[in-house]
Amino acid sequence: QHITWDPIQAEKNGYAHFMLKEIYEQPRAVRDTLRGRISAASGHIELPGLDLSHDEIVHAERILIASCGTSWHAGLVGKFLLERMVRIPVEVDYASEFRYRRPIMRSRDIGLLISQSGETADTLAAQLEMIAGDIPTLSICNVVDAALTRKARGSITTNAGPEIGVASTKAFTAQIAALLTLSLYFAQCRKTMPQEAVQSILRELEVLPKAMEEALRTSAPVCARLAKIFSNATDVLFLGRGIHYPIALEGALKLKEISYIHAEGYPAGEMKHGPNALIDETLPVVCLATKDGDDPDSVLKYEKTLSNIQEVTARGGRVIAIVVEGDTAVSSLVEHTITIPRASEALLPILETVPLQLLAYFIAVEKGCDVDQPRNLAKSVTVE
Ligand code: G6P
Repeated sequence: QHITWDPIQAEKNGYAHFMLKEIYEQPRAVRDTLRGRISAASGHIELPGLDLSHDEIVHAERILIASCGTSWHAGLVGKFLLERMVRIPVEVDYASEFRYRRPIMRSRDIGLLISQSGETADTLAAQLEMIAGDIPTLSICNVVDAALTRKARGSITTNAGPEIGVASTKAFTAQIAALLTLSLYFAQCRKTMPQEAVQSILRELEVLPKAMEEALRTSAPVCARLAKIFSNATDVLFLGRGIHYPIALEGALKLKEISYIHAEGYPAGEMKHGPNALIDETLPVVCLATKDGDDPDSVLKYEKTLSNIQEVTARGGRVIAIVVEGDTAVSSLVEHTITIPRASEALLPILETVPLQLLAYFIAVEKGCDVDQPRNLAKSVTVE
C-alpha cells in the first residue's frame, strides 16, 4: 500500500488552513508571550529585553508608535492601554505615513515599533526616522533576529511562533498581550496604578488563555452558522467605541483581506455623521457591545453603543453583536449575538478578536477564497 505524505498538510496539523490553525493557537501564543514575564502571586513584572533605565521610563514624556496593517491596530489598542494605565500621551502612526509629516521628536520621547515579521519596509523606515530623531526605539516583534529588533534599543518578543497565513491572527493577540505587559510595567515604574489594581489584572492575565479557549469553543459554531447567512453580503460595517474601536478596524480588515468583501470599521458614535446613510436591510453591521460591569467608563460606553445599535436596527440594518456572557439588553434588540467570557475592559479586546477572526474565516471558506494566500497580498511587505 502506498501512503502519500504531504508536508504542507502535515504542518497544518489537521486544520483545513494555516489561518484556522493559527486562530486556535492563540491561547498558547498569549500564554507563551506572558510566560516568565508576569507573576500574579508576587505582583512582579519582568521585561529584561527592554533595556531602558528606570529614569528613562519615569521621565518619558511621550510614546510614538508606528506600525502597519494588523500591527497598526495593535498600536491603537496600545494607545488606549498606555494612556489609561500610565497616563502618558501616545501617538500612533501608520509607519508609511510617519516620516511624511515631519514628526516632532523630543529627547524624552520613546519610539515603539510593532511588527509580526520585523521586516516591513515602512516600519523599518519609521524606525530609522526615530533613530535620526535621536530617540530610543523599542520593538514588539514576533521574530527574534529581525531587522527591526537588531536596530532597536530594546525589544519584547511575542512568542506566537511562526505565522504562515497571510492574514495575521495569533501575532495580533500576542502583540496586545505584550502591550498589556509593557503598560503594567510602566505603570509600576511610574506608580500610576495602585499595586492591588496591577495585581488584579495580572491574575486575570494568567487565566486569559483559558478564557480565549472558551471564546473559541463557544463562538466557532455560531460564526460558522452566521457565515452561511452573510457570505453574500457586498459590504459589512464593524462598529466599536473606545478600546473596542481598533478591534472593529481589525475585524473589517480580516474580512476584506480573505473574503474580498468590502468592510469598514467605524467608531460607533460617528455613524450619525455619514455611514448611517448606508444602512438598509442588506447591510450586516457587526457591533462590539461588550462591557466590564465593574468599570463605570466601560458601562457608559456600552450604554452609548446600545443606543447606536438601536439606530441601526431602526433603519433595518442587520446587527451581529459581540456581547459578554449574561448580557440580555443587547440580545433582546438584535438578530444575532456572539457571546464571549466576561473580562476587565483591558482584556476584552483580545477576547472579542477571536469571533471576528472566525467570522472572516468562515465567510471566506463559504465563498471559496484562498484563505491562506489572498490575492494581491504578501505576508511580509519589504517595499515602501
Ligand atoms: C502585511 C500582512 C499583514 C500585516 C502587515 C504588517 O500587509 O499581510 O497581515 O499586518 O503586513 O506586517 P508586520 O510583519 O510588520 O506586522
